[in-house]
Amino acid sequence: MQSIETLIKNNAIWADSMRQSDPNYFTRLAQQQNPRYFWIGCSDSRVPANQITGLPPGEVFVHRNVANVVQETDFNVLAVLQYAVDVLKVTDVIVCGHYGCGGVKAALENFRHGIIDNWLAPIRSLTRVHKDELALLEDGSKFDRLCELNVLSQARHVARTTIVEDAWERGQELAIHSWIYRLDQGILTPLRDPISCSKDNEI
Ligand code: CO
Repeated sequence: MQSIETLIKNNAIWADSMRQSDPNYFTRLAQQQNPRYFWIGCSDSRVPANQITGLPPGEVFVHRNVANVVQETDFNVLAVLQYAVDVLKVTDVIVCGHYGCGGVKAALENFRHGIIDNWLAPIRSLTRVHKDELALLEDGSKFDRLCELNVLSQARHVARTTIVEDAWERGQELAIHSWIYRLDQGILTPLRDPISCSKDNEI
């Protein structure tokens, strides 16, 4: 583990190296951000949006919370989604979950974890909605499948927000992607075709 002082030193080294390869890098980046992508992912430290997609600063707008939950009553995610869609005019929203997600695991467990149980209520609801499918699976596969179902469900929630519906209504190009990341392989996999209109969201 690196000490907190090391982080500041690392930063100075990084900033120097960026300036050396492109003297105008920071002045140009400071003028505006123009990301094409909006990432909604898990807070898990092992799933950093920029690094696993090979995107430099300025190219992906990011919102992360425990288990990449999108609730229509969460002003945090709604505010950032509205800014991404209405102001930045991103063309792609990526909802990215991951196998081995601690939040999803907690939603499967039958004991109290604390406040987080309220946050994870939508995932607990998913276990009830899909109980027949999940009952056929062994514990490991059940956990994996719930991670996938959670991504699919949260992407549908994004597509159902008034923000996204209004964007499609005015003809704005916007696709919602449902991706999952495998921690032990470092690989991203799309779980379905992108949702690009209200009709796609019925599938
Ligand atoms: Co997670």
